Amino acid sequence: MDETYGRRPGLTVIIVGEDPASQVYVRNKEVNAIKVGLVSEVIRMPEQTTQEELLAVIDRLNADATVDGILVQLPVPKHIDKDAVIAAVAPDKDVDGFFGMKSGFTLKHGYVAPCTPRACIHLIKTTGETIEGKHALVVGRGELVGKPVATLLLNENATVTIAHSRTRNLGEIARTADIIIAAVGKPNIITGDMVKPGAVLIDVGINRGADGKLCGDINFSGAEPVAGWITPVPGGVGPMTIAMLIRNTLDCYLNHVRL
Ligand code: GUN
Repeated sequence: MDETYGRRPGLTVIIVGEDPASQVYVRNKEVNAIKVGLVSEVIRMPEQTTQEELLAVIDRLNADATVDGILVQLPVPKHIDKDAVIAAVAPDKDVDGFFGMKSGFTLKHGYVAPCTPRACIHLIKTTGETIEGKHALVVGRGELVGKPVATLLLNENATVTIAHSRTRNLGEIARTADIIIAAVGKPNIITGDMVKPGAVLIDVGINRGADGKLCGDINFSGAEPVAGWITPVPGGVGPMTIAMLIRNTLDCYLNHVRL
């Protein structure tokens, strides 16, 4: 890569405050970005950072031609307007894919897709199962995963159902699904009896179970014997999300160097 374009892809992550989970995520991103050879920078700012100070840092990074991707780790402290911060990142450096997903169920051309939804699609494709024409059930309607992953599944020509906390007869719907993406944040929302034999199960949930261990939204031990494919938690979607952040950084880089 160095030889071809004269510089390596650059990713800068900004973290404001001390949220312990965010610290772990950011460290993980940093370790993996360095491992694959990105120019990786983490800007750590104190909890009391003002919105103006944060926006000034983003402006500086927007203007820095060696920075291809900018990610502001969420959540930001309450006194900072998250939407203003997201909007301040240059669209061509938005490795979170927030810009690409702005207008309803459409991925805007030329923008990268959000990392976790992209990770889900990649995991499904690696099974070798086709997505086109299949019934894909997305459990959860969040802005970060549920809605964007439903959009990407539509783009792959799946028939998509979006279920949520008010959905009736989730089990009945789930049993007709060839693909289930669980992104609610509730352990055991999908149990073995709700799974169609051979289905592809992608578990986006990260929960702390009653036993204190990390677990997903899908009851793994119950669903695994029925499913064709199932991702574990931890170790499934999480690492793939980081891989997709790196992929998004590379895509932004290629857009920059090929201009
Ligand atoms: N914190 C938790 N998930 C995310 C994400 O997808 N993007 C950012 N920027 N912060 C997060």
